[in-house]
Amino acid sequence: MKVLMINGSPRKESNVQLGLDEMIKVFESEDIEVEFIQVGGKDIRGCIACGRCSELGKCTFDDIVNEVAVKFEEADGLVVGSPVYYASANGTLVSLLDRLFYSTHFDKTMKVGCAVACARRGGTTATFDELNKYFTISGMPVASGQYWNAVHGAAPGQASEDAEGLLQMRTAARNMAFLMKSIALGKERFGLPEREQGVFTNFIR
Ligand SMILES: Cc1cc2nc3c(=O)[nH]c(=O)nc-3n(C[C@H](O)[C@H](O)[C@H](O)COP(=O)(O)O)c2cc1C
Repeated sequence: MKVLMINGSPRKESNVQLGLDEMIKVFESEDIEVEFIQVGGKDIRGCIACGRCSELGKCTFDDIVNEVAVKFEEADGLVVGSPVYYASANGTLVSLLDRLFYSTHFDKTMKVGCAVACARRGGTTATFDELNKYFTISGMPVASGQYWNAVHGAAPGQASEDAEGLLQMRTAARNMAFLMKSIALGKERFGLPEREQGVFTNFIR
């Protein structure tokens, strides 16, 4: 059982990372393998809507997005953590997620998603909602906590003082582990739910 964790922060001493580290402790105690990648400092361009991915099954720009795609396909769950920038996810991370989810054609159904936001003060729930949108358009159940998954801090290291936020991280990780294990059992017993052929309408006809 494997979880891929993506940190959207560019900072070395990232507060998002302190939240993710709290989750990693739980995953390790649950015998869940963790693969981790920090993307915020990388040069990741946005989607240019060229549509080449519909033929290639991967993004035409052969960069870190296609590397993450391979790891995502292998994983049973995906954790995405973002620093809040202007009450939104970090732009580099959004570029990666747009291209990752749009260009990949492997089945994401029942891979468990978990979003984590980190801010000094405001915008965590907007960011949390934004990140969850990638999961909930892809048939991915979402691991939640006892509150909306967020840790607070501004200067490096401050998130380690947010006892309530760190508790949410541990809770979300435990719930995610439970969901992944339960889904693995359910797949064996019942198989994946039937998926119908897509119907695309654009509201004008
Ligand atoms: C460009 C920019 C925009 C930010 N916008 C917000 C914001 O809207 N709300 C907030 O509370 N903090 C905001 N922050 C503060 C960061 O969210 C905060 O420092 C957080 O700890 C960063 O996480 P990191 O250390 O993992 O990068 C902003 C920081 C930057 C650099």
